Amino acid sequence: MKTIRDINLKNKTVLVRVDYNVPLKDGAITDDLRIRASLPTLEFLRKKGANKIILISHLGRPEGKDKSLSLQPVAKSLNKLIPNVTFIDDVSGPDVESAVEKLKNGAILLLENLRFYPGEEANSDDFIREIIDSTGADVYVQDGFAVIHRAHASTDAVKNHLPVYAGLLLEKEIQNLNSAIQNPKSPVLLIIGGAKVEDKQPLIEKFTNIADQIVVGGKIAADGYQAKHHKIYVAEDFDENAEGQKLDVGPISTAKIANFITDAQTIIWNGLLGYAEDPTYATASTITAELIGENDHATTIICGGDTTGFVETLMRDHPNLHYSLVSTGGGAALEFLLGKPLSGIEALQK
Ligand code: 3PG
Repeated sequence: MKTIRDINLKNKTVLVRVDYNVPLKDGAITDDLRIRASLPTLEFLRKKGANKIILISHLGRPEGKDKSLSLQPVAKSLNKLIPNVTFIDDVSGPDVESAVEKLKNGAILLLENLRFYPGEEANSDDFIREIIDSTGADVYVQDGFAVIHRAHASTDAVKNHLPVYAGLLLEKEIQNLNSAIQNPKSPVLLIIGGAKVEDKQPLIEKFTNIADQIVVGGKIAADGYQAKHHKIYVAEDFDENAEGQKLDVGPISTAKIANFITDAQTIIWNGLLGYAEDPTYATASTITAELIGENDHATTIICGGDTTGFVETLMRDHPNLHYSLVSTGGGAALEFLLGKPLSGIEALQK
């Protein structure tokens, strides 16, 4: 897979697929991890002399042009982190052509939500061709790791029309996730939480061959998960509310998890251990996040939207915490860890 380190970017117009599918509440961005994570690639492209940088992304799952899912607020947020970003509320046609025309010296233009148009999810060659023709793109960079498992026009069909390269975020995600599944440093610890056992079970099964220890907490454990392998430790005590609902992993289990974390050389954590939205039930997740972030001898990977959001918030108050990778990929990271073929990566290997 070639990356942006392998090409001469001077004076090029670069079409970059990012994943700016960020969580929104009342129109405001509540977690900008995916926006911040795209900065190294954008800075690299500028430093290497790219002339125009055109960003494409989706946001949410709109049915047609749903203005509440416009990427305009994302452009504003990005412009606070890196100068010279503009936005256009379309993806192709004369308005896009003239907006691109006006860009100079590494300026960035973010196009509107790709999923406003049926061609994106239909993986349409015509749709991506129109975008390429309107923007005059010379090369394509895939840096939207979180959308790498989708075969859409901007992740797959695009390979038929432009030379394709991986961006720095994609490279970092792949290198770190690979280090957890290909010859990982032992002991390997997988910590699973969250609510949906059907989503997590394939990962638990796969890691019985990779990990030395698997911990199951969260609602999955509270609902009575039955371990079918000696490597699996299911949380054994819980903090409950007045109605007897088990809302957090209790102190006995948390102490055991803490010991596993201290000994581990490779740690993958996916899924919160309790109902951490309520600080009363965030204790086990907080201790886990702190111990992983303080473990400086292990490769540490945090994945899953709730878990990464939780860790990011904690890091704001505790800048000493450090993780090898706070993954931007939700479903994509899980599918990668499971070793599934991913369309967006296959497109880069054509
Ligand atoms: C994600 O948030 O997992 C990605 O942006 C992909 O979004 P999707 O599940 O709507 O395709």
